[in-house]
Amino acid sequence: MTKKKILYDGKAKTIFEGPTANTVIQYFKDDATANNAEKHAIINGKGVLNNSISDFLMRQIHTIGIPTHYIKKLNMREQLVKKVDIIPVEFVVRNIAAGSIVKRLGLKEGEVFSNPLIEYYLKRDDLGDPLINEDHIINFKWGTREELEEMQEYGLRINDFLRGLFLAIGLKLVDFKIEFGRYFSEDGDAVLLLADEISPDNCRLWDLKTNNKYDKDLFRQDIGGLKEAYQEVAERLRILPEKKKYSSIKTEIVQ
Ligand code: TMP
Repeated sequence: MTKKKILYDGKAKTIFEGPTANTVIQYFKDDATANNAEKHAIINGKGVLNNSISDFLMRQIHTIGIPTHYIKKLNMREQLVKKVDIIPVEFVVRNIAAGSIVKRLGLKEGEVFSNPLIEYYLKRDDLGDPLINEDHIINFKWGTREELEEMQEYGLRINDFLRGLFLAIGLKLVDFKIEFGRYFSEDGDAVLLLADEISPDNCRLWDLKTNNKYDKDLFRQDIGGLKEAYQEVAERLRILPEKKKYSSIKTEIVQ
C-alpha cells in the first residue's frame, strides 16, 4: 500500500496524494457499507475486483469520447487519476425500478421505464444524501447550468453505452450512480470529468435470464455471495488474468 499522505478517507476508497500536484491515487478498499454506513463489513478481495472493473469501464467510456479522471491502473488496488474538485451531486440513471425509487414512489421492482430516468442526490452523509432537483443544483451553485447540461449528456451516453456493453455479457444495467469533478488545467480553465468509480458497488446488474443480482444489493439485502458475483462480472468482461490466459477468442470489447 502506498505510504503517501491521505487526502480523503471514504467508505470504499482512500484518496492519496499523487506523484504530481494535479494527480491523486485512488485506493480501493475491501469495506462494504450500506444504509449510510450503518451496515459495514470487510469483503476480502472486493477492492481488487472493483479496481479492475472500474479500470476497464473507465477506459471503455474514454473510447466513446467522454472525458474521465482516469490515467492508469498502478497495481491491484490503486489507480492514478487526475485531481478534481468533486461536484457534490450523486448523478443516478435508472432504466428499471429498483432500490430507493421503488419505496419512494410505490413502484413494482423490475418495472422497465420507457425512458432512462435521471435523479440527483446531494452528497451529504450527515443528511442521508437527500434527493434534489436541477434548481437546487443551480441555485445553491453546486454546479453551473452548463455543467448540468454536460452531466446530463454524458450520463445518458454512458447509460446507452454501458447498457449495450452489459447486455453483451448477459446482464441488465438496472441503474447506476456516477460522480463528476472539475479539473483545472494549467491555464485555469475548468473541465468537467467523469470521476470516482464505476463498479458493481454503484450499479445494479441483473442476469438477463434469471434476474439474479450481481451487485451490492447482495450485501444490502443480506443475500450473500457478493465477492463471487463481482468475480463473475469481471470474468464475463474477460478482465481477470486467469480468464485471459485460457481465452484465445477475441471479444468485441476493446481491452
Ligand atoms: P438507490 O436506489 O439506493 O437510490 O440507488 C441508485 C443507484 O445508485 C444504485 O445503483 C446504487 C447507487 N448508489 C451509490 O452508488 N451510492 C449511494 O450512496 C447510493 C444511495 C446509491
